[in-house]
Amino acid sequence: MKDLQNIKQRFGIIGNFDGLNRAIDIAVQVAPTDLSVLISGESGTGKEIFPQVIHSHSTRKHGPYIAVNCGAIPEGTIDSELFGHEKGSFTGATDSRKGYFEVADGGTIFLDEVAELPLSTQVRLLRVLETGEFIRVGSSKVQKTNVRVIAASNVDVSAAIDHGRFREDLYYRLNTVPVRIPALRERGEDIYLLFRKFAVDFAEKYRMPAIRLDQGARNILLGYSWPGNVRQLKNITEQISIIESERDIDAAMLKSYLPDYEGIKLPAVIKRDDDKAFSSEREILYKILFDMKSDMNDLKKLVFDLMQSDGNERFSEASTRTIRNLFPDAKAGFPENKKPETPPGDFTILKGREDIMDTEEIVEESLSLAGKEMEMIRKALEKYNGKRKMAAHELGISERTLYRKIKEYGIEM
Ligand SMILES: Nc1ncnc2c1ncn2[C@@H]1O[C@H](COP(=O)(O)OP(=O)(O)OP(=O)(O)O)[C@@H](O)[C@H]1O
Ligand SMILES: [Mg+2]
Repeated sequence: MKDLQNIKQRFGIIGNFDGLNRAIDIAVQVAPTDLSVLISGESGTGKEIFPQVIHSHSTRKHGPYIAVNCGAIPEGTIDSELFGHEKGSFTGATDSRKGYFEVADGGTIFLDEVAELPLSTQVRLLRVLETGEFIRVGSSKVQKTNVRVIAASNVDVSAAIDHGRFREDLYYRLNTVPVRIPALRERGEDIYLLFRKFAVDFAEKYRMPAIRLDQGARNILLGYSWPGNVRQLKNITEQISIIESERDIDAAMLKSYLPDYEGIKLPAVIKRDDDKAFSSEREILYKILFDMKSDMNDLKKLVFDLMQSDGNERFSEASTRTIRNLFPDAKAGFPENKKPETPPGDFTILKGREDIMDTEEIVEESLSLAGKEMEMIRKALEKYNGKRKMAAHELGISERTLYRKIKEYGIEM
């Protein structure tokens, strides 16, 4: 128990949530072994500190520690970065060069965003994990290295396996010991602890009194879904510290910094499940098609209901629900001036060609997949103030793919 507090202090980890303590505990237990560890958790949950905890508690602690962000290295050079290359092995290879696996001999390599590795690199990685052997690009000489591998991913690797983008055998090899970092929204009072820590840190950094939250604001903090987790909480605390001249922050002020706060009518957990489902580009398209299909089915049901109602002015309860699902922003589909007397939550039929045309237009609109994709990308970028990393995560695509799409669609920011 005392150890745990020491580790938290030493590595600047804030929080007492059970799931977090368990993750630290597993990291420390597994540290002295040479087992591979896979750290999973949503973006911004604090995965990056764990490989350092493991390395510094291992017998390799005096050896090298190299962190590699697999998502940030272009596909064409990743093999050479990891395993090195020989002079002349490709255009521009004017010298031979050691790769990280050679340099980190006797130490630890942290492969961040491991699910981004190309399949051909995954084969090389599996080999070095199983036998300690690797070959530089452009060489035929087998070399040996002794490296402990810790990997992290903020996407669901099993979904990547299902889509043929990640080797199952490599997954099992990496995932010998899984460490799961809980999402911020699960951590209850820790959210407030983290806020206070960040508020004090920024107060020091900017030489001003720390911001404080009133009870209402604290409740908002606990109820929000925190899609960007600790990173988002930290950013928002910094923004408020700088922008607001008032040091006592109330619920309304806090809400204005939380993207989508008003939009979240459903419990946060349900929203996250949806987000997670976007674990690949293809899945986004599937999801769009699936949503369109269920919208179509809903519309069919609605039309059927309309025909059945035969002039009766009231929708069935099921249809009212359907309308709400189809038009979450009811104003868009049903202009207010057409139903002035309708009490909230109780729709009346809207007859006449105009409304039917409206519906057709909506269906037409969503038929343009590219358009929809563009719109989603724009929305995600807007939501995260142009931060591509977070937008990419929200969309369930890699940063690289996002860059490509931004270019392809000429999306301006
Ligand atoms: N428990 C914590 N205590 C203090 N600071 C934390 C904690 N967890 C995360 N942070 C801070 O939050 C930020 C995000 O953490 P980190 O970079 O480790 O996220 P991540 O899980 O690697 O996210 P991604 O998957 O997007 O790379 C960092 O500034 C980190 O210092
Ligand atoms: Mg990270």
